[in-house]
Amino acid sequence: MAGGSPMSPLSGRLARYVAGVRNGLSRDDLGGALVIALGAAAVGMAGGWIGPAAGRWLALVTALVAGLTMQLAVLRGMREQARRSEAILALTMALKPEVPLPVFSGWAVHPTLARLLVTTVFEQRPGMIVECGSGISTLVFAYAVRTLGHGSVVSLEHDPVYAEQTRSWLRVHGVSAWAQVLTVPLVPHRLNGHQWRWYDLTTVQFPAPIDLLFVDGPPGGLQRLSRYPAGPLLAQRLANEAIMILDDVHRFDERAIVSRWAVELGWRVIGSSSDHSAAVLMRTAGLVSGQGLGQVTS
Ligand SMILES: C[S@@+](CC[C@H](N)C(=O)[O-])C[C@H]1O[C@@H](n2cnc3c(N)ncnc32)[C@H](O)[C@@H]1O
Repeated sequence: MAGGSPMSPLSGRLARYVAGVRNGLSRDDLGGALVIALGAAAVGMAGGWIGPAAGRWLALVTALVAGLTMQLAVLRGMREQARRSEAILALTMALKPEVPLPVFSGWAVHPTLARLLVTTVFEQRPGMIVECGSGISTLVFAYAVRTLGHGSVVSLEHDPVYAEQTRSWLRVHGVSAWAQVLTVPLVPHRLNGHQWRWYDLTTVQFPAPIDLLFVDGPPGGLQRLSRYPAGPLLAQRLANEAIMILDDVHRFDERAIVSRWAVELGWRVIGSSSDHSAAVLMRTAGLVSGQGLGQVTS
């Protein structure tokens, strides 16, 4: 099994680029691109093999397929916009922010996932929420626990700029008392014979066992299976009935992480966000004491 072994700067950059491309494309995007590329190649080759008349028919069919593919992409985009708007409306109604929520763009959680985070807090009433990777998710968690009047949030953030941006959102929205953003560097951790860069936990104290763990950092392009260490490194800090939520499970790496957590930690998937981009997990009974953990050293 591969880990996040150190790489030379050039091969490291190349690996991050490949990981970014691989993780950024959905299966639908890859399928659409493949259809168009195969069609174009077929027309190019067939023009020579099957004569001009048949070549023209083939070009027509290819154009139709390409048009249909694009039409489907447009429809997909419209459905996506509707999903986002609906989720933001639901969030706004549930959290009643006095200041508009920040724009859900860039690397922020998808609004449907933010809605799942809030619903989970309202339904499960976790006392201790820990998050890897701060941002809008920290803000909606803080709003949710303030609305309940119960719970607190600790967010681990390696980047001082993003940490400060999140703190400033918490201040502007008047919810700083409910969430704490800790700037912690990424340091080497050795797990099962492989090395990862992950948050430095040596100075981090969680005031209580973690009831809800949200894993949305560090960035996926940093290394292979970038978010895997959250499992083995935080498993023993979880409450017995803890819920874990992992974002970006449409990506190859995150699907592999879910499989490893299942085998090594006995975490099983019990649900997902409505767009299936995030998985909700719980420990299976009998693994609450951490049996099944590999050799863990930090
Ligand atoms: C997926 S982001 C976390 C997003 C966060 N949970 C939210 O809801 O906004 C993971 C990490 O990427 C970094 N990051 C956030 N936005 C970024 C951006 N636009 N470009 C590069 N890195 C970013 C931050 O260090 C963050 O901890």
